[in-house]
Amino acid sequence: RPRIGILTSGGDCPGLNAVIRGVVKSAYRLGFETLGFVGGFEGLVDPVRYRVLTPQNTSGILVQGGTILGSTNRGRFGVTVGKDTKLSLPEPLIEAVRQTFEETKLQGLICVGGDGSLSIALELHRAGLPVVGVPKTIDNDLSCTAFTFGFDSAVNCATDALDRLHTTASSHDRVMVLEVMGRHAGWIALHAGIAGGGDVILIPEIPWTLEGIIAKIDDRRRMGKEFTLIVVAEGAELPGGGTVNREAEQTGRQTRLGGIGVELTEQLAQRIDQDIRCVVLGHLQRGGGPTNFDRVLATQLGAHAVRLVMQKRFGEMVCYQPPQIDSVPIAQAVGELRRVPHDSSAVAAARAMGISFGDSMD
Ligand code: F6P
Repeated sequence: RPRIGILTSGGDCPGLNAVIRGVVKSAYRLGFETLGFVGGFEGLVDPVRYRVLTPQNTSGILVQGGTILGSTNRGRFGVTVGKDTKLSLPEPLIEAVRQTFEETKLQGLICVGGDGSLSIALELHRAGLPVVGVPKTIDNDLSCTAFTFGFDSAVNCATDALDRLHTTASSHDRVMVLEVMGRHAGWIALHAGIAGGGDVILIPEIPWTLEGIIAKIDDRRRMGKEFTLIVVAEGAELPGGGTVNREAEQTGRQTRLGGIGVELTEQLAQRIDQDIRCVVLGHLQRGGGPTNFDRVLATQLGAHAVRLVMQKRFGEMVCYQPPQIDSVPIAQAVGELRRVPHDSSAVAAARAMGISFGDSMD
């Protein structure tokens, strides 16, 4: 059988295994054998590590979280600069990848990853290697695709947390701050905030002030609501600029003990006459199995990626442009993240519900 390769790169995400299964099953039916490279792009170079994947040995993985292939988000293909990883693909590294393609007789490689990983895929394509991309991030901030798989699962997790915080906050008349993921964009905070009945949503895209939040808390108390739920995206800037973990970000050594959520809670505690608590949801949002929506989306993306390889449409990335699964050049999708537009219908609906963004438009 001719061979097709797949790897998963960057932070894990519910639905990665569903993509792998989608690729393996559809490739098999088209007469291809699938090699799964282990540990992201690292698996392509010394020591080259792959597993032959079959419909049999991938049976049952649809519902599993994580990735059976493992992943690396900081390896030889990137260097850490601040909170981001910048590409580093010297010629010998590309040559080593080329050699792996030749030795394993790969007809094409499917790279599943976020902005950074897809940028590596793009460089390999530019070097003449047959790669296609599948977009992945719980943050939902990749361009050219309306949703990324993993986002719905993360929102589900954050919504469940809000539902739970709701009952304890109202029992104790407390302000509860929930910090969710979203390094550059506030999609998770926005959707979970709407779905979980949040009162204040703080996102990197909309500048906010402590006064804006306090005004909302006071408003609610005047209406007899003695508790307030605040959802804050980890990338939301502190008023006056800067995220809290700036120093840690510069050294690339974030511990994720809590950032903006903790800082905001401490600052609000000085200013309000009410009990306040903070929960940092962290990697719970990335763990666990995918929702039904993510299973369907990931399966479709996997199957479509195989079609792209068959059609030799290399350098393209599968994407979801409802109602269609489609594809775009990877070059078009990477480099610029998709952030929450101020005038998006979700922001407008949230405002219509009386949800505050901590700004002057309440
Ligand atoms: O990019 C996805 C993401 O979930 C971000 O929201 C978060 O900042 C980051 O991953 C954390 O990744 P890690 O702890 O693996 O470095």
